[in-house]
Amino acid sequence: MMRSSPLRFTLALALLLALPAASAEADRLGTYRVKQAERRLPDRLQVSRSGIRAAQRRIGEKIQLPTPLLYSPELSKQYGLEVYLKLESSTAVGSFKIRGALNTVLSLKASDRKRGVVAASTGNHAQGVAWAARESGSATTIVMPEGASPLKTEKTRKLGATVLLAGSSYGKSVAIAEGIARQEGKTFISGYEDRRVVEGQGTIGKEILDQLPDVDWVIGALGGGGLMGGIASAGHRLARRPLYVGVQSANNAPMLEELRRDPAAPPRRKPVPVKHTIADGTLVTETPSAKMVDLLRSRMDLVVRVGERSTERAILTLLDRTGNRVEGAGALPLAGLEKALADLERPSLRGVARPKKVVLILSGGNIDQAKLDAIRRRHSAR
Ligand SMILES: Cc1ncc(COP(=O)(O)O)c(C=O)c1O
Repeated sequence: MMRSSPLRFTLALALLLALPAASAEADRLGTYRVKQAERRLPDRLQVSRSGIRAAQRRIGEKIQLPTPLLYSPELSKQYGLEVYLKLESSTAVGSFKIRGALNTVLSLKASDRKRGVVAASTGNHAQGVAWAARESGSATTIVMPEGASPLKTEKTRKLGATVLLAGSSYGKSVAIAEGIARQEGKTFISGYEDRRVVEGQGTIGKEILDQLPDVDWVIGALGGGGLMGGIASAGHRLARRPLYVGVQSANNAPMLEELRRDPAAPPRRKPVPVKHTIADGTLVTETPSAKMVDLLRSRMDLVVRVGERSTERAILTLLDRTGNRVEGAGALPLAGLEKALADLERPSLRGVARPKKVVLILSGGNIDQAKLDAIRRRHSAR
């Protein structure tokens, strides 16, 4: 007895020290429910269902809409509910970004279109803007952060854009792009913080409600918030609406942090420490603006944080079991579905019903083969 007490003491101490780490990890990953009362807060971007309908008419003249919504028997069986895949990876630029960019460029005055457009992007928005500008005869300059994906850089150049690799982070590239727009009298097109961009992305939400009116959950990746802000706006204030679920990588989840703050707290803007994430499409390097936070607060229901390993696994599952090649951000919804279903037992989610029909937004398919090969190696080695 005497001899075991130092051991017991050590064990007890180890347990005590491990407890905060374990709960920090549980807190790092998981599902957060946006408070109902906060859904009544105003949206200062003024994204509306009528704006989304107008965007649908505008962009529907240039691109084939709707994108397919496919039932997945494999995933439905795996999760015990109906899983549908919204194939935004099937657009001309391999992501949904073509929608917001096109809606914005087509909304410009002819004289502004002639002067040209500027954007900053890690890749998908760049291609969306370049494609939209080429379609409507505008010159485009795209500023991409140093170290942007070579595949995305190359594709953007091929679309006729002038690509500048400048800025050590996305935030710095944005500042450079805004400077160019000011100096050259061109229009800066934000990746998300613009009503026209958000309403363009919102056309996805409208299509889903038309394609599967009784969908229970619509799940998509959350970066700056334009994608899910738009999609959730399509169902805003409808008597019967699905739950809108946004998914972030735990390595880069500043939007969730802002949503968890008191809405009355003064807005803040600060750099976000950047940790690598396979979901590079959603990477942001600065706290999202108060306008975007308000938009999401008033529209979203759940926000899920997932880890890198489950996102990588989701990329492989989507490829191997459904034949869909998606990038990290495009796989976040599947990783998020898995996490949110597991979290339904948590007291904070009491009253959230298990969904019968879910739509996963496969928001982008632009992944380098080398990256895909590396993921495959990492997972087959386990
Ligand atoms: C493939 C993909 N999915 C999701 C997102 C997130 O979109 P948002 O920044 O509008 O939240 C992005 C952003 O670029 C993306 O490229």
